[in-house]
Amino acid sequence: MTDTALSPAPVPAKASPFYQLEVLWVRHWTDQLFSFAVARPEDFRFRSGEFVMIGLPGEDGGKPVLRAYSIASPHWDEQLEFFSIKVPDGPLTSRLQKIVAGDTVLMGKKPTGTLVLDALTGGERLWLIGTGTGLAPWLSVARDPETYSRFGRVIVCHTVRSVADLAYRDFFTQGIHDDPLIGDEARAQLTYYPTVTREAFETPGRITDRIKSGAVFADLGLPDGFDPARDRVMLCGSMAMIKETGELLETYGLKEGSNAEPGDYVLERAFVG
Ligand SMILES: Cc1cc2nc3c(=O)[nH]c(=O)nc-3n(C[C@H](O)[C@H](O)[C@H](O)COP(=O)(O)OP(=O)(O)OC[C@H]3O[C@@H](n4cnc5c(N)ncnc54)[C@H](O)[C@@H]3O)c2cc1C
Ligand SMILES: NC(=O)c1ccc[n+]([C@@H]2O[C@H](COP(=O)([O-])OP(=O)(O)OC[C@H]3O[C@@H](n4cnc5c(N)ncnc54)[C@H](OP(=O)(O)O)[C@@H]3O)[C@@H](O)[C@H]2O)c1
Repeated sequence: MTDTALSPAPVPAKASPFYQLEVLWVRHWTDQLFSFAVARPEDFRFRSGEFVMIGLPGEDGGKPVLRAYSIASPHWDEQLEFFSIKVPDGPLTSRLQKIVAGDTVLMGKKPTGTLVLDALTGGERLWLIGTGTGLAPWLSVARDPETYSRFGRVIVCHTVRSVADLAYRDFFTQGIHDDPLIGDEARAQLTYYPTVTREAFETPGRITDRIKSGAVFADLGLPDGFDPARDRVMLCGSMAMIKETGELLETYGLKEGSNAEPGDYVLERAFVG
């Protein structure tokens, strides 16, 4: 008998459910908001608009702390970008806000979510409505070429408290027009519609109020109200906004969709509260 025959069969190492990824860059927008990017693992695939678990190892050898994060990059990008809140006593973001380039973060291997083009039926206009960090999935969907081949017009609505919270404003008004892949389409088909609730601004107030008053449609030169034959909507952000907007959309005859049964609008709670 050989030594090999006597050795116990090797036990395959249990694959970790997380990637360990190097932070490439960090950008702080305000003392409440920041963005960062990691290198994309070669075997990681996702659909634009999906979310994934992001985290840090536990302190003092404890369990890792993980939270759901929308991927703010399109499905084809080599970097994976994230747009994050800083919750002062939040188990994850009190620490995550301190990361710097070269640090390691954990990322789950299974992206998922409903804010994907697959969950919507055909339409002419795509409304991407978000509050706060609920803008993150629109950074992904708005950079996906399929968005522009499916929809003639794409409207990104971002409602925040203060003008300084309008992260990515320069990107949506200028930077995206220089994107080598979708720059021309964005210039022709994309409209950015920011609103600010607690400071003076040219389009003040909650997006929900501007829908109800008809102001958003007048500003964009569109007929008043949503049309189930033409309008498709994605919602992301605070629970209150999603609930209210979802109910509003139903009054116009739009039906909620899912991956299993595509519909006229889809939603994701970017945070609980
Ligand atoms: C599907 C999904 C996608 C998400 N995508 C993002 C994302 O792209 N970016 C992001 O910053 N967060 C996102 N979140 C929220 C995220 O999972 C965490 O809650 C957040 O990172 C804070 O983690 P924490 O451990 O520091 O605090 P937590 O204990 O998770 O949260 C503490 C409290 O802070 C508030 N809060 C948490 N997150 C937010 C937020 N994003 N905006 C406003 N208030 C918040 C809530 O009141 C919450 O109860 C998402 C959540 C879900 C369910
Ligand atoms: N961002 C800041 O400047 C700031 C400052 C201090 C503390 N914080 C803390 O940070 C956390 C997250 O704040 P956030 O500003 O990112 O998120 P948020 O409180 O959900 O507000 C984001 C935007 O969503 C709007 N909104 C809320 N409910 C809505 C609804 N039903 N329909 C339509 N719009 C709605 C808000 O308008 P309204 O302003 O009308 O509510 C605000 O403009 C909170 O816990 C907050 O206490 C944030």
